Amino acid sequence: DGFNVEDLVKEQPGLTYDDFLLLPGHIYFSPQEVSTTTRVTKNIRLKCPFVSSPMDTVSEANLAVAMALQGGIGIIHYNCTVEEQVQMVRQVKRYKNGFITDPITLGLDAKVKDVRRIKVEKGFSGIPITETGKIGGKLVGMVCTRDIDFVGDDDLSVQDVMSRDLIVAKEGCTLSQANDIMKGSKKGKLPIVNGNGELVALISRTDLLKNRDYPNCSVDKTSKQLLCGAAIGTRQSDYDRLAQLAKEHVDIILIDSAQGDSTYQADMVRHIKQNYPHIEVIAGNVVTSRQAAHLIQAGCDALRVGMGVGSICTTQEVMACGRPQAVSIYQVARFARRFDIPIIADGGIRSPGHIMKALSLGASCVMMGSMLAGTHEAPGEWFYRDGVRMKKYRGMGSKEAMEKGSSTRYLMNSKSGIQVEQGVSGFVADKGSLHMYLPHLHMCLRQALQDVGMRSIQELHGAMQDGSLMYEKRTAAAQSEGKVHTVQHVQSYGLA
Ligand code: XMP
Repeated sequence: DGFNVEDLVKEQPGLTYDDFLLLPGHIYFSPQEVSTTTRVTKNIRLKCPFVSSPMDTVSEANLAVAMALQGGIGIIHYNCTVEEQVQMVRQVKRYKNGFITDPITLGLDAKVKDVRRIKVEKGFSGIPITETGKIGGKLVGMVCTRDIDFVGDDDLSVQDVMSRDLIVAKEGCTLSQANDIMKGSKKGKLPIVNGNGELVALISRTDLLKNRDYPNCSVDKTSKQLLCGAAIGTRQSDYDRLAQLAKEHVDIILIDSAQGDSTYQADMVRHIKQNYPHIEVIAGNVVTSRQAAHLIQAGCDALRVGMGVGSICTTQEVMACGRPQAVSIYQVARFARRFDIPIIADGGIRSPGHIMKALSLGASCVMMGSMLAGTHEAPGEWFYRDGVRMKKYRGMGSKEAMEKGSSTRYLMNSKSGIQVEQGVSGFVADKGSLHMYLPHLHMCLRQALQDVGMRSIQELHGAMQDGSLMYEKRTAAAQSEGKVHTVQHVQSYGLA
């Protein structure tokens, strides 16, 4: 009944996610008993198979922190200066549960309208005012919504509205000490200052009220720091970028390329493994065994699989190169398994079911861009379109992103100056906080594994390999049958 994976791939050339389903198995355990522990690289395990795309509208420090707290990992993008990227990695590695180490601050020259703008764009108030306008400057006041509610003049200086008698906590205090001070203060934010009165962090009451227990948290066992990855390219300047990131104890380096089978990338893999043996390397992207062979030979610790299948990609249209995602995952995973190299299914994940499908073809993790863009922790400002709160999401090969500097991934010809775009920019709707969204995706996955009678990703892979996991093909009619139909004004969560 149904097809085993080998027959499925043979029967359906150009297989991708929507072309098949998994057939149910026997259930004899609850979803809570399902383990989703997996490997993201040869030597790094995660409790949840979720990785964020190194894109400048997805993976900056806030998102990477939330990804790690929720059991996945974030890969910080590199469409920025070395210093900016290093700072983001530092923020993740030095993250202390509950302490905001990069709060939005204003200087003494700020106006009431700046406070209002931050409230609209970022969704919060409670802003420290420092002499320099930055963290590290001497703390002189705090402004919150209540201070400006009845102020009619938007051009009024913050100095005229801010509170100056501040309740602060001293650097080095524990979260529970800060918690006690905050309970007594009745304020929404508690600034943390050092011996010189300079702002070093901020604690927010709403954060304290949230459940601060992260049982799946991805941490380095020895240092107890959150795990964090960072992307680099293969140009000469990337060797320096790498050296700076290594100083921050980055755990994973991802070599970012739409077509990873190049001498440049193999050289970079060898360079990292020789000079920084403790750093794990994700190479790619690849979609064939032949590409994979070159990077495995060079010594990579994981492969990133996918070409031109991302929601914002136009690579397949522009370059005529790429491969449908399901068959890429199956073929590369089958090959890489011989060398014990895990693979990450990158791009084209549009629903929780796609995550399960990627794993059922041999992926150990999924990498997501559009699914994570539009969460509260993703970078970018909110705006409204047709009454819906949205954030920007753009391909790293889009004109906009390349103009900011990401042209190396897409091999922009710097001599001719001609840019070939391989991506687009667009908007995605507010998905809420990652602290709600990832647990939701995680529960979807555990229930999906339960439906096919598998208690873990390892069991799933085993059943796929021994041919006992059964799949069914989906005709175009079957696809429309399986989607929502007939009803109107559908409301859903977690589906594109
Ligand atoms: P999703 O579907 O999750 O895809 O939004 C994210 C992945 O898409 C890749 N990516 C691009 N591919 N042109 C492309 O052809 C681009 O401009 C582009 N930007 C990102 C990347 O692999 C990412 O993880």
